[in-house]
Amino acid sequence: MKVLIIGSGGREHALAWKIAQSIQVKKVYLAPGNGGTALEQKCENLPKCTTGEAALAFAQSNCIDLTVVGPEEPLAQGIVDRFRAAGLAVVGPGQRESRMESSKDYAKTFMHKFGVRTAAGRSFCDYEQARSYVQSYMATHSSVVIKADGLAAGKGVIVAEDLSTAQSALFSLMCEGAVGDAGKTVIIEDFLSGKEVSVLAAVSITPGKDGVIVPFIAARDHKRRFDGGQGPNTGGMGAIAPLPDFSQAIQDDFQRAILEPTLHGMEQEGMDYRGFIFFGLIIQDSRSYLLEYNVRLGDPETQTVIPLLESDMVPLCSAILDGSLAGFPLVWKAGAACTVVAVASGYPKAYRRGDFITIDKEKLAQSGAVVFTAGTSAQNGSLYTNGGRVCAVSALGSNSESAREKAYSGLSAVNFAGIGYRTDIGAS
Ligand code: GLY
Repeated sequence: MKVLIIGSGGREHALAWKIAQSIQVKKVYLAPGNGGTALEQKCENLPKCTTGEAALAFAQSNCIDLTVVGPEEPLAQGIVDRFRAAGLAVVGPGQRESRMESSKDYAKTFMHKFGVRTAAGRSFCDYEQARSYVQSYMATHSSVVIKADGLAAGKGVIVAEDLSTAQSALFSLMCEGAVGDAGKTVIIEDFLSGKEVSVLAAVSITPGKDGVIVPFIAARDHKRRFDGGQGPNTGGMGAIAPLPDFSQAIQDDFQRAILEPTLHGMEQEGMDYRGFIFFGLIIQDSRSYLLEYNVRLGDPETQTVIPLLESDMVPLCSAILDGSLAGFPLVWKAGAACTVVAVASGYPKAYRRGDFITIDKEKLAQSGAVVFTAGTSAQNGSLYTNGGRVCAVSALGSNSESAREKAYSGLSAVNFAGIGYRTDIGAS
């Protein structure tokens, strides 16, 4: 079997690593992949496949049996619709379904319509109306969340703690085009405080049939750049799973207040959604609130959760596609997983590129950790930094403390000039 993975990040490396372990799989192609993914067993990069059209042409001419789409951009651009129209097996939602992530306005309306528990919020496409609403809102509230409607590469959500910050955020998004067309419409919503939880899940919903959403082990990303949750937001500096504070009672509440109404809503909307979904939650007073849907797996949560998956990923993908997901025996490993992300100097602002990366293979093997590369390029068999988040080091342990120790021990085998990371990933 030949599998194609669309994307170039650490999430796609973790998917390729897992899928390559399947005895059904002969070859995994990554379109385009990154410097490190080409070194993975059974894997080959397709550096010229940087568009949906190129990936489709490759899949057709190379008899690809299964395609898995990693990032949100190609999903929002409709790559899955094109693969399906060509009769190819592809895991991921179509363009219409991808609006659950690509339009925060659509997602919020969906949540309100189907009773998914979330923060109260309103959408605005007129700057003056948004400004006047925020002015009266801040007279009675100490903070507010302003979200750009469209995809904004992590730059579209601002938490403002005073009126002037809120007004500048509106001006920057709606008038100055800070995130382009993505900011023409904004959602202004209540700020919720609490611990964040990421629930990734497999989804198999086809019109006219009962759908199913199967949640994975919950994880926690660490979004701020520095220890103790300080500094600017990033794409994610590391993750831990499972989460003892996501208790059975809170999981039951999540199931009732978020997962079930979401499934019902997706069925009512006639969605054909065969892929993965990511529920971004916040837990306040032991109740789950939905912050956002992502129509894909998380990064770096995937690098944490997928190593815990005992089951073969290929039959899981088949079950998503053929409607047998409800009966799929999803098996998880006991213990915990921890992932620490190594970043380039300067990240998340302007950062260095082109630094030589060394990996002490013996030390890494002794730690039991694995390295999932992201912002890397390869030249003459050597790896160089080529992005902000350079790689993620993941390890399993009998508990979170041992997983942390192994992940940090694995990280000590990786080096490049200016390497940065948090030292408190998964620390309780
Ligand atoms: N870890 C957050 C995300 O994948 O969007």
